[in-house]
Amino acid sequence: MSEVTPTPWDRVQGLLPPLAAPQRDELKASLETHGYRGPPVYVMPDGRIIDGHNRYDLWGSRCVVEVLDVDEETGLALALAHNTARRQLTTIQINQIRDTQRKTALRLREQGKTQAEAAAAVGVSQQVVSDWQAKSMHNTSGGKVHKPDVRTKVTKDGKEKVVKAVKAGVPQAQVAADLGVNQATVSRIVTEDAKREQEEVERKARAEAAARTLPKDNRIQQTDFRHQAETLADESVALIFTDPPYARDNLDLYAEVARIGSRVLVPGGSLLCYCGQFLVPDIYAAIGKTLRPWWIAAVQHGGQKARMTEYGVVVCWKPLLWFVKGTRGDKHTFVDDLTIGTREKDGHEWQQAESEAAYWIERLTKPGELVWDPFCGSGTTAVAAHKLKRLFLTCDVDERAITTARARFAEVFK
Ligand SMILES: C[S@@+](CC[C@H](N)C(=O)[O-])C[C@H]1O[C@@H](n2cnc3c(N)ncnc32)[C@H](O)[C@@H]1O
Repeated sequence: MSEVTPTPWDRVQGLLPPLAAPQRDELKASLETHGYRGPPVYVMPDGRIIDGHNRYDLWGSRCVVEVLDVDEETGLALALAHNTARRQLTTIQINQIRDTQRKTALRLREQGKTQAEAAAAVGVSQQVVSDWQAKSMHNTSGGKVHKPDVRTKVTKDGKEKVVKAVKAGVPQAQVAADLGVNQATVSRIVTEDAKREQEEVERKARAEAAARTLPKDNRIQQTDFRHQAETLADESVALIFTDPPYARDNLDLYAEVARIGSRVLVPGGSLLCYCGQFLVPDIYAAIGKTLRPWWIAAVQHGGQKARMTEYGVVVCWKPLLWFVKGTRGDKHTFVDDLTIGTREKDGHEWQQAESEAAYWIERLTKPGELVWDPFCGSGTTAVAAHKLKRLFLTCDVDERAITTARARFAEVFK
């Protein structure tokens, strides 16, 4: 019987992933059925456990304990050698241990230990240390070492499991071991989830605040957009989806909408505007001063195509320029940058397809959030937003356009 009390050894625990829950249950069941049969729990002269940590944890003083009279580095090498050889570790876990061994060996070499000493300290052959050194020299270019990417791809289901387990109080190292991923991956998933949750809370609060400031009815107003914008609260609009007049002398309208957008858009909110091809460089320059250019999407025309005689081009698509305030809030929702429009011109000569507005509203906003269209026309954005249970506000200076938009809205939602 040994005189020392076995205690966990931080250095070894830090190198080895914890036993996965099913393996631990299996070990426990075996101890309960057969009693203690395995090799001794090996400990350092001061009691730090070299090997048998899980057995000691489950079976305590009923384990057979043997003290090995070895120095620190030899004890560590023994711990790694025992565990990597015997335990059912996943490839990722073995790679993690290998990575730690490699780093430790390289550090010892830098500290002046011989290859043989470094090899003994981490439990590998001298040849392995020599290979690691050669590789580390190759991986160094311009003084910068390229570290291997240890991130692991985890499915959506897997991510949900990770978050659930961590929220239930399971230590991250244990979750990593149970799911066969590395701990950095677990930590990344948990951080991303917490960030998403926080963003969701903020989005909800902003949507509720926006709803409070909107008029109850009359959200299709006959007025200039600059006037309507004055009624919009700061950071209340999730998306500006609009189709300003295309003429070159309307460039200042685009710039003005962007300027207003930089105030009323939520952080990460978007401005999407249709425009003619010939205006793209100018609009980019005008809007780019206040909002960040994000992407140029395209809408492929249905029906008859316009012929631009001035340019000698048959127009098959129109640009939908996308700008964001800051950076796009939700990059997890993928969008196609090409949509196929249907021809809908029964309400307004410039009427755009409702399906296009719906496509973008659905992906760039959440129900309850506010969509603003400063150039209402026949009310396409308003109808699409309302169908998708988003709040909307829109206006047009033209009385006929407003009459058409209100009639269309009343007809759709009668
Ligand atoms: C290209 S149309 C919009 C068409 C709309 N997307 C649809 O699907 O029917 C542009 C509209 O902007 C309106 N407009 C022009 N200047 C405006 C201003 N300063 N304030 C509000 N509306 C304006 C025009 O009257 C016109 O109806």
